[in-house]
Amino acid sequence: YIICLYIKPKKPVPLYFVISQKTIEQILETAKVEDVVGDYVNLKRRGVNMIGLCPFHNEKTPSFTVSPAKNIYKCFGCGQGGDPLRFVMEHDNMSYPEALRHLAAKYGIQVEEIETSKESKEERQRLDNLHALNQYAADYFIDQMWNTDYGKSIGLSYFKERGFREETLKKWGLGFAPDNKNGFVNKATTDGYQPEQLRKVGLTTQYGTDFYRGRVMFPIRSVSGKIIGFGGRILMKNVKAAKYLNSPDSEVYSKSKALYGIHFSRKGIRKADECYVVEGYTDTLALHQAGIDNVVAPCGTSLTEGQIRIVKRYTQNISFLFDGDAAGTKAALRGLDMVLEQDMNVRVVMLPEGEDPDSLLQKIGLSEFQKYLEENTQDFILFKTQHLMKSAGNDPIKRAELIKEVIKSIAKVPDALKRSVFVRECAALTGTQEQLLFNEINKSQAKKLSEKRKQSAPPPPMDVPPPFPGEFDEQGYPIETAPVQIPKQKKLGDEYQEKDIVRLLIEFGAQVMDEEENLTVSGFLLGNIAELLPEFDDSDCAEIVKEALENLNRGKVLPTSYYTRHENKKVRDIALTMLSSPWDYSEHWDGKLEMPLQSQKKPEINFEADAIAAVNRFKLKKVLRMMKENQDRLKNPKNDGEMM
Ligand code: CTP
Ligand code: MN
Repeated sequence: YIICLYIKPKKPVPLYFVISQKTIEQILETAKVEDVVGDYVNLKRRGVNMIGLCPFHNEKTPSFTVSPAKNIYKCFGCGQGGDPLRFVMEHDNMSYPEALRHLAAKYGIQVEEIETSKESKEERQRLDNLHALNQYAADYFIDQMWNTDYGKSIGLSYFKERGFREETLKKWGLGFAPDNKNGFVNKATTDGYQPEQLRKVGLTTQYGTDFYRGRVMFPIRSVSGKIIGFGGRILMKNVKAAKYLNSPDSEVYSKSKALYGIHFSRKGIRKADECYVVEGYTDTLALHQAGIDNVVAPCGTSLTEGQIRIVKRYTQNISFLFDGDAAGTKAALRGLDMVLEQDMNVRVVMLPEGEDPDSLLQKIGLSEFQKYLEENTQDFILFKTQHLMKSAGNDPIKRAELIKEVIKSIAKVPDALKRSVFVRECAALTGTQEQLLFNEINKSQAKKLSEKRKQSAPPPPMDVPPPFPGEFDEQGYPIETAPVQIPKQKKLGDEYQEKDIVRLLIEFGAQVMDEEENLTVSGFLLGNIAELLPEFDDSDCAEIVKEALENLNRGKVLPTSYYTRHENKKVRDIALTMLSSPWDYSEHWDGKLEMPLQSQKKPEINFEADAIAAVNRFKLKKVLRMMKENQDRLKNPKNDGEMM
């Protein structure tokens, strides 16, 4: 298999990431969950499992379980779970290839890289060069600020006057571009960079002169920390030039996806389970310096959907921290709907008019600032309603419009349960009947649906090789794909039996049941129930059985790890839940007491008997139902659609 990474969506030639499949398998086989997790979590033995305090959420009593035998972890508190590789990806916010390399290094496994095509290697080389060039430029700006008299007296002193400490300046790689027409260009070309390259990443103007002049420089990093672009702030006052200049879009920089501070904030965001979005570079820096390390800012644009999606990798909760003036309010209202559309939670803190987080923090200090945040955080409904109420006053027509406006936002929330909570809140705030609001929501949902139908989705590209395992975005992060639904009417009642079958399939599917016949548990289960697949009530179970069956038909028996690493998060979660049990039995229990445990309680030694029993129970259920359906049909022939 080959893992492909898209660099530029417009261009259909994928760039192949080239860790060999052999190495990937070696890493996955070698990595032990108890070692990998044990680097971060203090684990204690409990029976065959180990437990500890979950690193993904705050807890006082341990509900984080590690199973060395199954090589998985699972938290019964927050639901996080997976194999060692996933742990590294989730815990350290690493991309798939990054996590693989991390584990390889930990176990001393040599990473074999394969060249898949000349083109992709060249493309990768080119991008590496552009990243290196940006790093080179950042180093130049740093050198100018710290090591020249001009830089020290203008750039460095500016930052210091604004209250930034040296360690902050160094950590963030801030620098200074002197007001010099060709200073950077001359140095870079002497050091071997081509003028076209400099132009490409926006370090020079169309005339080939330095793009940034007389500005303090903020390097912008990708999630993984590579420098992808710059923001430069002017120092002279009363000049017509723009206050900030930002890098233009290039092969390595996309304004709509860059988030200032994401590299240094990703850990903090995950830990706090919340991300503050501020308006500017200096706000991000000021909060970080004060110890608030879950902050990002868009870079010279208003917030985009792509930026919100990046935050979504780390938390479901976004809070806007904007200036309370008209522009800030407008920005918050706009961002609000976008966050809701991503099924994330959004709150707003409006600062006193004319203040940004940086200036307010300077003025009132950290503890007052935090108090301000606590006291002024509003959920989105309250924020939007209050804002609109102010402008509507007592005018009934305007008030009706206002309610529609709030409803529009609520209708964007994909989760129905959440929607109804918001509706209630909105009804209470505006003194409107809930039912009225629900009607409005339904109308706007229906409209959305019919619009969607009209512009049906474009077909997926055909000539892209199947990615493994799962798709990745351009930075190597897995893209969660929606599960394929088996379209069928839901008949409730037999889910328990179906889940039992699926559990056995996942946990013991690859085990041999009959050596002479070369029969695996998968073979036994699937052979018995294949015909009944359309009768499944639980569509997730049906999907898993279907996939196993398709593989079996190709002679492939899927191991447990196939499910715990499945590209579809839903399947992965089902597998992890089924494989993990919060209870455990003492290893000596049945030995000491000579008391065989019921098969249900000790599945690892009883899978054969369990499989046979499960198939029987399952078939019995289905047969009983078919009999009942037949009887109903005889009693009531008019309702039978199939007799036409
Ligand atoms: N911005 C920009 N171009 C401008 C003005 C602003 O790209 N001409 C962007 C920058 O990303 C900036 C953000 O909008 O960080 C917020 O602007 P502003 O509040 O004016 O700047 P601050 O970040 O507060 O910077 P400072 O405190 O240095 O004035
Ligand atoms: Mn400011």
